[in-house]
Amino acid sequence: MELNKFEFYLMNNPMRRWLQKHVEFKTFKGFLDKHNLSLEGKIVLDAGCGSGYSTKLIHQFSPANLIGFDLMPSQIAKAKQKYPELNFFVRDVLDTQLDTDKFDAAFVFGILHHIPGWKDAIKEVYRTLKPGGVLLIEDLNKDASRFFATYIRFDHPQEAYFTWEEFSYHLEETGFTILEQTRIFSKGVGSFLCLKN
Ligand SMILES: C[S@@+](CC[C@H](N)C(=O)[O-])C[C@H]1O[C@@H](n2cnc3c(N)ncnc32)[C@H](O)[C@@H]1O
Repeated sequence: MELNKFEFYLMNNPMRRWLQKHVEFKTFKGFLDKHNLSLEGKIVLDAGCGSGYSTKLIHQFSPANLIGFDLMPSQIAKAKQKYPELNFFVRDVLDTQLDTDKFDAAFVFGILHHIPGWKDAIKEVYRTLKPGGVLLIEDLNKDASRFFATYIRFDHPQEAYFTWEEFSYHLEETGFTILEQTRIFSKGVGSFLCLKN
């Protein structure tokens, strides 16, 4: 689902970028370092990349090939304008049209709570990863989605209101092994490092 105007504005402001760099990305970097996982020279995907700031951060890992995509043409237009050196396109994570077993790693920063078919999105990202590939995924649980719907007028689909138990269950049922996980913001935001079995 596309973002409403208010969330689009909030996702594209300096405070969001600060949080993404100093909290969310730092968490993922810590996970990778802890497990001695390097993305240098690897093929990496940023699914639901928004206006491309996450892709720019991921580029610091020196992957050989990095692509970012998002459902919203307006997000991808911003990404292309800001980071012309990176590779972006408009695509739905439910139908990426990307090759099977292609990527060494995929980042999914905060998109599944927008997708009624979020379990299918996990399966599609799984399909695109190589066996042993790395998934770095962060999202909101249903408490956080309820909070944002009540106080900040976000309109996330009810079908994507999940608990951490449901979220972890579907990661594992799809075929991922969860190596690390952490919660921040009163446990409303969770970050996971997984490997494709
Ligand atoms: C909360 S924003 C996060 C954007 C970016 N990953 C970040 O962390 O700043 C959620 C993003 O997911 C995208 N999105 C929602 N549904 C999607 C889908 N089915 N396929 C791809 N992207 C989707 C939205 O367009 C939006 O840019």
